Amino acid sequence: MRLILVSNRVSIPTDSGSQRAGGLEVVLAPTLKRYEGVWFGWSGQVVPRAQVTTKTIQKSAQTYVLTDLSEEDHKEFYRGFANSVLWPILHYRIDLAEFNRRDLSGYMRVNDLFADELAKVALSADLLWVHDYHFIPLADKLRERGLTNRIGFFLHVPFPAPEFITVLPHHERLLSSLLQYDLIGFQTDGDVQNFIRYVIAEKRGSNIGVFEATNKQVVLNFDGRQIRVGAFPVGIDTVEFERRARRAAQSSFVKEVVESLDGRALIIGVDRLDYSKGLPQRMEAVELFFSNWPDWRNKVTYLQIAPKSRSEIEEYLELAQTLSAIAGRINGKFGEAAWTPIRYINRAYSRTALAGLYRAARVGLVTPLRDGMNLVAKEYVSAQNAEDPGVLILSRFAGAAAECRDALLVNPFDAESVASAIARALEMPLSERRDRYNHIIQTLSLNSSDVWGARFLRSLEQLELVGTNAESWERLAMSDAT
Ligand code: ADP
Ligand code: F6P
Repeated sequence: MRLILVSNRVSIPTDSGSQRAGGLEVVLAPTLKRYEGVWFGWSGQVVPRAQVTTKTIQKSAQTYVLTDLSEEDHKEFYRGFANSVLWPILHYRIDLAEFNRRDLSGYMRVNDLFADELAKVALSADLLWVHDYHFIPLADKLRERGLTNRIGFFLHVPFPAPEFITVLPHHERLLSSLLQYDLIGFQTDGDVQNFIRYVIAEKRGSNIGVFEATNKQVVLNFDGRQIRVGAFPVGIDTVEFERRARRAAQSSFVKEVVESLDGRALIIGVDRLDYSKGLPQRMEAVELFFSNWPDWRNKVTYLQIAPKSRSEIEEYLELAQTLSAIAGRINGKFGEAAWTPIRYINRAYSRTALAGLYRAARVGLVTPLRDGMNLVAKEYVSAQNAEDPGVLILSRFAGAAAECRDALLVNPFDAESVASAIARALEMPLSERRDRYNHIIQTLSLNSSDVWGARFLRSLEQLELVGTNAESWERLAMSDAT
């Protein structure tokens, strides 16, 4: 069986190993390597409509099929509906959603375009795995074109409480199209529950059966079809990442950074420059930390690496300006001639360089306001030296919090709690650091990106029902109705 992956971004291996920031590429690249498969997506090129082409690139056993976007498609599909409507709503930022019908039709048009191109390459036995919020209606479009293949969908970002989803105009039409997939995967059990609550509320009165399978998946019987829904948290290869970090710690790049700290402790943050990552709130918590724990001034440096992302969108531009201003203000307030409290950098680094920096950092500060998973949290822990590990401070609103119960879990909206977590992390005794690290790494090591991909694809291949317990979800439906 051949695997066809579909996602907006596609990561083609480069000789330099350079990396665009983004969790989806990081987990899908190793998954594709395991299969003789095709990865289908956007070429990253925006061209006039008449020049839009689809090209095929062969690298070892993997095939990449890349389609350009026209200027109009990029504006309405990518910048518009995907990233100015769906992204904010899925991250609970309904205040930032800017809906208009033109963007919705651009979104549908690009899904049609992808369906046309996919229908040309997909063979009847192929397994199709579609990724993320850019392609919610793709299975529906493929079914319209006669494809009967098994098609799975995985949402890398959160699925919010139904009250947030229903803010989206025409949500019923868009989200009903998800029911054309055979398997729908989310990052956490919480996302699955939100989705099922949404389906139950919206489909009340229609003929939908909701059952819980014994393998913790939920089964929807709808329109004579069976759709399975489950949590498949993305993971990373912890052993490989630790090895990479150990090697990188010896590199001249990391050594130079460590020397430049002049014995000071390092706190590290690594995030795309995105409002979901809570960067202004994080910097303000650092400011509070320096105010309330003056003894730590000049003894610790906070390095925030935040490569620019989606810079053509206004909110992202504003965020970039806000952050530069906050970092400047804090450095002006606490900095000294020989010490800059915050090093704020907008460039991307190789995965290896990041691994080395994580290992050198006493504290990993990962405080998104909402995040589907957050791989940086998992990378930070994996990169640590087991004998002398650093401490992860993690937002309770990141999907990763479900697997990192022994991190210092914080509410990123509460600057005081983040500031005191920083002080606690810096002062934490070695035995406690080791205990926390051991617990987290044990859990993370059970779930690499390979295991994640294999689990999802196994489920997609074997769609038979394992056994159901009709009651639990019907009870939920009833309590929802009251
Ligand atoms: P998201 O998918 O929202 O960007 P994640 O934390 O899940 O968030 O994934 C981000 C991925 O991008 C991680 O693997 C991280 O190492 C990588 N990344 C983040 N910042 C950089 C950077 N400056 N340079 C290179 N890779 C980065
Ligand atoms: O995980 C969220 C995500 O949308 C990924 O799909 C992608 O890797 C990353 O953010 C970067 O976003 P964009 O593709 O819009 O640059």
